[in-house]
Amino acid sequence: MKKINVAIIGVGSFTKALVEGVSFYIKNEDETRGLINPLVGDYKVSDINFVAAFDVDERKVGKKLHEAISQGANVTKDITSPVEFEAKVYRGPTADGVVEQMKGSFVKESSESSVDIAKVLKETGADVVLNLVPTGSDEATRMYAEAALDAGCSFINCIPTPLATIESWQKRFQDKGLVLLGDDTKSQLGATMLNRILLEALAMRGIQISKTEQDNIGGNADHFNLLYRKKSKEKTKSEALSSFIDCEEVKPKVTFQYTGKPSGSKRVELRIEGEMFGRTPIKISAVIEDEISINGAGTVVDAIRVAKLLVDRGMQKESEKVCAFLMKSPAKKMADKEAIESFRKIIEKK
Ligand SMILES: NC(=O)c1ccc[n+]([C@@H]2O[C@H](COP(=O)([O-])OP(=O)(O)OC[C@H]3O[C@@H](n4cnc5c(N)ncnc54)[C@H](O)[C@@H]3O)[C@@H](O)[C@H]2O)c1
Repeated sequence: MKKINVAIIGVGSFTKALVEGVSFYIKNEDETRGLINPLVGDYKVSDINFVAAFDVDERKVGKKLHEAISQGANVTKDITSPVEFEAKVYRGPTADGVVEQMKGSFVKESSESSVDIAKVLKETGADVVLNLVPTGSDEATRMYAEAALDAGCSFINCIPTPLATIESWQKRFQDKGLVLLGDDTKSQLGATMLNRILLEALAMRGIQISKTEQDNIGGNADHFNLLYRKKSKEKTKSEALSSFIDCEEVKPKVTFQYTGKPSGSKRVELRIEGEMFGRTPIKISAVIEDEISINGAGTVVDAIRVAKLLVDRGMQKESEKVCAFLMKSPAKKMADKEAIESFRKIIEKK
């Protein structure tokens, strides 16, 4: 079985979780616990192979990927010692990737000049490019997407910048027989999913939702970045909830707090209010505590495999349906049950 060659943009905490998670399933090939879908077509998580990575931080550029993931401001719980993938970290163009306040301890910008991204992607034989630059890096996202197109790679936009939801971008990838998935990956079971499940339960039981609030409290680099660039994240998170609310005046509220203590652990407090029988108030509070990057990587291993599968099977047009399952902000929105059923139909073994 052919491996799936993946290039990663942004060697941050998310990438550390992804590389170690894939390493875990390579070392334990028969292990299926912890996976949403053990198989995507015939692809196992252990078929994922990292061939290149791009970053701008001098502590990461020039290193092998398995070494770079433990450098700089990366914080996430170790899963296992990483496998030595062939991927090396190349210096990418900074564009709008690093806000002024991140410069210094969070990102020490390399003085090397940027490589030719498309050339590296071609030379390393990448099939799929994963975009994991900091939230709000719109210009950088578009630059890397152009390079992926040029090199003939599919692109997964894991961040909230609108890209896969833009029809002209979708068309450009599909015209080349590639796929573009996005925008902003859902975690395996993060605050968005839990909030959706609770809102769906209220709606199903005839309860009028009057308030839904989500306070995200974390200590990793992207949480610090969100202090300055929360707009796009607020939008994708709120959009993922608004379909459950049938009252125009009620808008989902999503806030972010940075703890100041470097940690991959995130705490989200949910507060939901509504009116039940006889317009009597009902309140629900819930807390979810997770290792945020690992939770995110749990979905991205499905996104990588399905991106390759859609191209293998000539099913590029099904991108919209798979995004409804994988992404916070898909072009076509679906209820979660419908989305997983349609995803599972697409990834069935043949
Ligand atoms: N569960 C999750 O953690 C989750 C879920 C959905 C989406 N995301 C998205 O994943 C992204 C990455 O999150 P993270 O926690 O790894 O962030 P991070 O800040 O730890 O890592 C980002 C990395 O990108 C690098 N970078 C900055 N500009 C760059 C450029 N122009 N080219 C290449 N590299 C560049 C930084 O040096 C850093 O190493 C964020 O945009 C976030 O919105 C995360």
